[in-house]
Amino acid sequence: MSVSPRAPIPSFIPETAPFTPEQRTWLNGLLAGLFGLEEGITPLSAAEAARLVPGLLPGPPSSADTKAADAAAADDGAPWHDPAMPLPERMKLADGRPLQRRLMAAMAQQDCGQCGYNCNDYAQALFAKSEKRLNLCVPGGKETSRTLKALHQGMESAPSTTTPAAAPALPAAKAEPGRSRDNPAYASFLSRRRLNKPGSQKETWHIDIDLAGADVDYTVGDSFGIFPANDPHLVDAVLAAIDAPAEFPIAARTLREELTDGVSLSPAPDMLFELISHLTGGERKQKAKRLAAGQDPDGDAGALDVLAALHKFPGIRPDPEAFIEALDPLQPRLYSISSSLKTSPGRVSLTVDAVRYEIGARLRHGVCSTFLGGRVSPGDKIKVYVQKAQHFALPRDPSRSVIMIGPGTGIAPFRAFLHERQATGAPGRNWLFFGHQRSNCDFFYEEELLEMRAAGLLTRLTLAWSRDGAKKVYVQHRMRELGRDIWSWIENGAHIYVCGDALRMAKDVEAALVDIIVDHSGRTRDQAMRFLVELKAADRYQADVY
Ligand SMILES: Cc1cc2nc3c(=O)[nH]c(=O)nc-3n(C[C@H](O)[C@H](O)[C@H](O)COP(=O)(O)OP(=O)(O)OC[C@H]3O[C@@H](n4cnc5c(N)ncnc54)[C@H](O)[C@@H]3O)c2cc1C
Ligand SMILES: NC(=O)c1ccc[n+]([C@@H]2O[C@H](COP(=O)([O-])OP(=O)(O)OC[C@H]3O[C@@H](n4cnc5c(N)ncnc54)[C@H](OP(=O)(O)O)[C@@H]3O)[C@@H](O)[C@H]2O)c1
Repeated sequence: MSVSPRAPIPSFIPETAPFTPEQRTWLNGLLAGLFGLEEGITPLSAAEAARLVPGLLPGPPSSADTKAADAAAADDGAPWHDPAMPLPERMKLADGRPLQRRLMAAMAQQDCGQCGYNCNDYAQALFAKSEKRLNLCVPGGKETSRTLKALHQGMESAPSTTTPAAAPALPAAKAEPGRSRDNPAYASFLSRRRLNKPGSQKETWHIDIDLAGADVDYTVGDSFGIFPANDPHLVDAVLAAIDAPAEFPIAARTLREELTDGVSLSPAPDMLFELISHLTGGERKQKAKRLAAGQDPDGDAGALDVLAALHKFPGIRPDPEAFIEALDPLQPRLYSISSSLKTSPGRVSLTVDAVRYEIGARLRHGVCSTFLGGRVSPGDKIKVYVQKAQHFALPRDPSRSVIMIGPGTGIAPFRAFLHERQATGAPGRNWLFFGHQRSNCDFFYEEELLEMRAAGLLTRLTLAWSRDGAKKVYVQHRMRELGRDIWSWIENGAHIYVCGDALRMAKDVEAALVDIIVDHSGRTRDQAMRFLVELKAADRYQADVY
């Protein structure tokens, strides 16, 4: 495919509208496509527009393009849909808009699926009151749940002027065990293998799970949901801090059981500080009240997990039932699947970075990554589900080339893609960009990848090591060096994929792609950005970022 440079995109967005130049360009490009005004551009369909600008359509997606155009005119998309944008800025952009738009702006904007929805659908479900849980957005954390709570309170007290849109019904497939977070299945943990060699500062595990008996299947590109259990040492420490008996009955369970897999012991929720404020007096009471209101009297609020909060107010003796009530439910975590059922029948593999860090004198552990990376044993049954990818899949045409950009654990779905392409004999070319800290100890799946390259399956393997030398080398640096070849692959119809860190890497990779298109296709920057939007619309540029 040869693509020629284009004329500048006409402006639909007034200069006074509250957007950055990048957002304005992007929206102008989108609207040009929607209305088919830019010569040679295929207008986007309503469905494409709604996906590229989540929430463009106020209700469930409609098939009528005119409806999409009307909606675009009334509501200029979701300019806050950027995971790197701080929440206050997002809320400012959503100010004065309908409540469901402000609910959406409060989400972490990763569309990661961890809550069981994408950001827009979660907002719609809250607005339609078919979803009551305000604390499902794990990446958004307390900031998101607090904002949702405030918006929700406003929603409860305001007189209803509009009928909430109907929430999308649960697809029948999701009602089967293992197909959604609300209906998990049981699978057996098989094994873990460390992917880093001695000398690494990382702790990354290849995990295998046996699906026999779970009646769960998946497609490469999907993610796998895991319900973890808290570290028993942490549970013991919490029990000691509230001086409560582990066997205290709570409904049909014990306090220890609830603390183990019922509630989150990570960030201390506002409700816990509210409870503490009722159990203390004087200055301590005031402090707990301020923490419950989201203030930070001692400058340590961000570091207070449940145990640290209890240590900050030593000697409180909450009623165990009230204590459990005050904590957030323990949420499942998602991992990109790094295997293919075609080469690993009855199994699923994951590639998991164990989150461990110090705050003060205490070593903290990410609940699920260290559950998989240490606490669960071979043969143990774990609660799991498959989170279907919405737009992260191999091209339907197996002869299409793919460019995969996956530093760190971002390699996971690409290992699965390569296994699948190997098993199906897909003739398309495969180019992998992998990067990590050090070549001698952080080259995940090294032998396997080198074999794939030797066998010709992996047409190109480009590596970027950030801590081998004095200067950081990231995947996007290597992409820029090889920009001409990347553009030639794109011109010939390649699909591009990116997986891994959402906050910095994915943004930087996208910026590098824009530069490559500018440098090698003769397009202007605006045209290059518009071109990327078109690639996204055609499912030729897909991301799985977290
Ligand atoms: C679609 C999707 C796919 C994913 N795929 C993968 C994958 O393939 N591999 C993978 O490893 N992960 C993946 N993740 C991330 C994964 O779901 C978890 O978020 C991750 O494992 C951490 O969860 P945890 O329960 O171990 O940590 P948590 O208990 O949730 O703790 C993590 C939190 O700890 C805090 N924290 C972490 N480090 C520090 C620090 N140094 N200082 C202070 N605070 C800190 C941060 O608040 C962070 O949010 C994916 C996520 C999504 C949404
Ligand atoms: N909250 C955070 O600050 C933070 C940071 C990183 C990862 N994470 C999370 O930690 C988990 C696992 O991470 P991981 O094991 O996949 O590896 P990772 O920590 O994301 O690192 C993988 C590689 O990416 C490099 N990198 C850092 N910034 C980059 C950027 N802007 N562009 C391109 N590459 C960049 C790293 O280099 P250097 O480390 O040498 O810079 C490293 O070589 C993920 O859940 C991820 O989202 C969180």
